[in-house]
Amino acid sequence: MQFSSPLKTNSTKVMLLGSGELGKEVIISLQRLGIEVIAVDRYENAPGHQVAHRAYTIDMTNADALEQLIQKEKPTLVVPEIEAINTTLLEKLEADKVTKVIPNVRAVQLTMNREGIRKLAAEELKIPTSPYAFARSSDELKKAVNKVGLPCFIKPTMSSSGKGQSRIDSIDDVERAWDYAATSGRVNEGVVIAEGQIDFDYEITLLTVRSLSSNGNIITSFCEPIGHRQEDGDYVESWQPQPMNEQALTRSKEIAEKVTSALGGLGLFGVELFIKDDQVWFSEVSPRPHDTGMVTMITQKQSEFELHAKAILGLPVDTSLSNPGASAVIYGGHDCEAIQFQNIPQALAEQGVDIRLFGKPQSFKKRRMGVILAHAEDIQHAKNKAQQAKSIIKTESV
Ligand SMILES: Nc1ncnc2c1ncn2[C@@H]1O[C@H](COP(=O)(O)OP(=O)(O)O)[C@@H](O)[C@H]1O
Ligand SMILES: [Mg+2]
Repeated sequence: MQFSSPLKTNSTKVMLLGSGELGKEVIISLQRLGIEVIAVDRYENAPGHQVAHRAYTIDMTNADALEQLIQKEKPTLVVPEIEAINTTLLEKLEADKVTKVIPNVRAVQLTMNREGIRKLAAEELKIPTSPYAFARSSDELKKAVNKVGLPCFIKPTMSSSGKGQSRIDSIDDVERAWDYAATSGRVNEGVVIAEGQIDFDYEITLLTVRSLSSNGNIITSFCEPIGHRQEDGDYVESWQPQPMNEQALTRSKEIAEKVTSALGGLGLFGVELFIKDDQVWFSEVSPRPHDTGMVTMITQKQSEFELHAKAILGLPVDTSLSNPGASAVIYGGHDCEAIQFQNIPQALAEQGVDIRLFGKPQSFKKRRMGVILAHAEDIQHAKNKAQQAKSIIKTESV
């Protein structure tokens, strides 16, 4: 990779497809390395738009609009940050050597669709997962639920952050779960997965990095495991390092290594795993920084965003932990055109507490608008600090 002045004819250019809070941090890391960055999102003034060299607003599922933009900019690398992207077009552009997709088009396609990644992990790689079945109608979903057992989770095959997802206890809830899942996927494919519930002790994200070693080989390194708590399928707090027994940690790393090497390419992956005693189940994987990994902005020498930026540029990475820490999500709390945060100074008064406000133009009740970060001598103290600071902050519509 060439490191040279940005905004010149032959500068290395990275295009982010999706420029939310995670993309914004990747962009900041790339900017620090002097890379020319182009931020793309479906709405104006997205968080990443505000820190990039150039910003575009297009519908990334529209092949013509996406092709025009990529042909115009000819980025060295394209970094997908969301799932709603026309990947058939990316496949064509990569084959024609117009650009290179991170980590690669196949990995993006497999992971954007629960059907693709499930089949790869469970059927090809023989990794333990929850029992699962797919359905294309509510009748098929009833059969699927009978197969996987109750309670179970019903999810659109293409969705994230808990969108369209429900947990059901009774076969009578199938119709409602079908309607919810079939209508709220980011890209409505009308395909739904039923997953038997895993009765886990805790769940983790194992951030796994594929980077180049000094002799040019791809090596895999792991961050300390991140524990997290989800509400309605959306992450509300995370902490690092999650204490684990040795066997469970070894198994988790083996699974993460298998899945990420099957996906290939360079970059950071968020491998989601369920743990009970020393048993480990694979849940899903993001071929990019993970929302629960925002905690690394306060716990690691290099955050997950810096690790991703460095890995994709072929640079060495350092996944070591600096100190225990925690994160707590700040929701908008209101549906409104702009938002004001109250009591930020008071929230940050406690030593070790920090904040990121994403700069999203519009607020929804359950839209993630910011995150509290806290470090302490252990995770319990860090979690308490983060929750305490979060409880002080109030949001108002303006
Ligand atoms: N099969 C399952 N067993 C137990 N909990 C689950 C299962 N599937 C999902 N969950 C819970 O819901 C959360 C969100 O599900 P996930 O599949 O990760 O959806 P998303 O892609 O929206 O993040 C998980 O982190 C976990 O807490
Ligand atoms: Mg998830």
